[in-house]
Amino acid sequence: MKKKLNVGLIGYGFMGRTHSNAYRKVTHFFDVPYEPVLQVVCGLVEDEAKAFAERWGYQSHTTDWRKVIENKNIDVVDICVPNDLHAEIAIAAAQAGKAICCEKPLALNAAQGEQMVKAVEKAGVANVVSFNYRRVPAVTLAKKLIDEGRLGRIFHYRANFLQDWTISPKVPQGGMATWRLDIKAAGSGVTGDLLAHCIDTAMWHNGPITAVCAMTETFIKQRTHAETGKVEPVGIDDACTFFCRFENGSLGNFESTRYARGHKALYTFEINGEHASIAWDLHDLHRLSYFDHRDESIVRGWRSIHVTDSDMPYMDKWWVPGLQIGYAETFVHQVAEFLQNLAKGEPTPPTFRDALATQYVCDAVLNSAKNNKWEKVRRQRTEDR
Ligand SMILES: NC(=O)c1ccc[n+]([C@@H]2O[C@H](COP(=O)([O-])OP(=O)(O)OC[C@H]3O[C@@H](n4cnc5c(N)ncnc54)[C@H](O)[C@@H]3O)[C@@H](O)[C@H]2O)c1
Repeated sequence: MKKKLNVGLIGYGFMGRTHSNAYRKVTHFFDVPYEPVLQVVCGLVEDEAKAFAERWGYQSHTTDWRKVIENKNIDVVDICVPNDLHAEIAIAAAQAGKAICCEKPLALNAAQGEQMVKAVEKAGVANVVSFNYRRVPAVTLAKKLIDEGRLGRIFHYRANFLQDWTISPKVPQGGMATWRLDIKAAGSGVTGDLLAHCIDTAMWHNGPITAVCAMTETFIKQRTHAETGKVEPVGIDDACTFFCRFENGSLGNFESTRYARGHKALYTFEINGEHASIAWDLHDLHRLSYFDHRDESIVRGWRSIHVTDSDMPYMDKWWVPGLQIGYAETFVHQVAEFLQNLAKGEPTPPTFRDALATQYVCDAVLNSAKNNKWEKVRRQRTEDR
């Protein structure tokens, strides 16, 4: 019999579903030391919370997140709410001694993120942030190829995250579905929402980013606020492009927008090294493109690796070679590793501290765009720990 681990989920929206699905599936596919028990779900609307609890098998529901924290029965608090609530809930959960899984971005800004890091480290509680793209098998394979030195010295890292869902001026800001457009709830626009993913993956692959030069634009300057009904100025960045320098001497080029007509969630990256290059595309997430200049010239070219063989990252846990997995499974991988590391008392990356490094880059990007100049990225010093 596995030890039970009681989960309190806060937020039953998009991420509430992906996380619940992961807790439900994890024991069927991975050898984990705990069995997650879906104890309580919390969200804003009573009927919706109740319906969610019934559908996913939570034993109870509430509309008050503090009740989840106060509940002595809860071992893990899982935070799937808009960004402005992450810090308050995570700090309260840490003080109550709960393990924490928090959605990205860590916080509204680095100042809040620092408070969160302090709280979890002081309490000594397990913590992880859901930068889930690290756990796409092809993205994990890219990390392995880089770490093995197959690319040689890295010169370039470029990433894009393109969407097109806010082009209409009729899309409101604020409220349940559109809190991402409200600066108070989101903290920033595409920088914290989409580029944070690209930055996390890039620093995991290629090391720290040291300096950035950015431009942002808010194409639609005013929108109706869904809660007040008033037309209000838009505070978020609709689009952001930045160059950067990595500590290893390579150059980075990042772009994100919600105004790229025709793209729903086109996250791509390409890494160019001295010997080889790697490219990946979220729309084809089980494939990794690889070019190796050391191949014999008559067969040299970009190859498309179908990342499904059982010696590929995570794939021995799923189906048979040739059959792929998708987006939802990245959250299963995260939960599996979180449970395994929890039993061993080891951290699961990206921890709050790892996510703070991404937050420093996001803050530097926004400052650079505002001040129209290069910004150094704040580094975590050992004395901060
Ligand atoms: N890892 C990823 O790929 C990914 C994708 C989407 C969203 N996210 C992140 O996940 C978080 C949630 O995003 P989402 O898309 O699931 O949002 P959503 O709008 O679908 O759901 C938000 C949930 O929060 C609840 N909520 C809001 N205020 C609350 C309060 N005061 N108390 C209790 N519950 C409250 C709502 O009831 C709702 O269930 C955000 O931080 C977002 O950036 C991450």
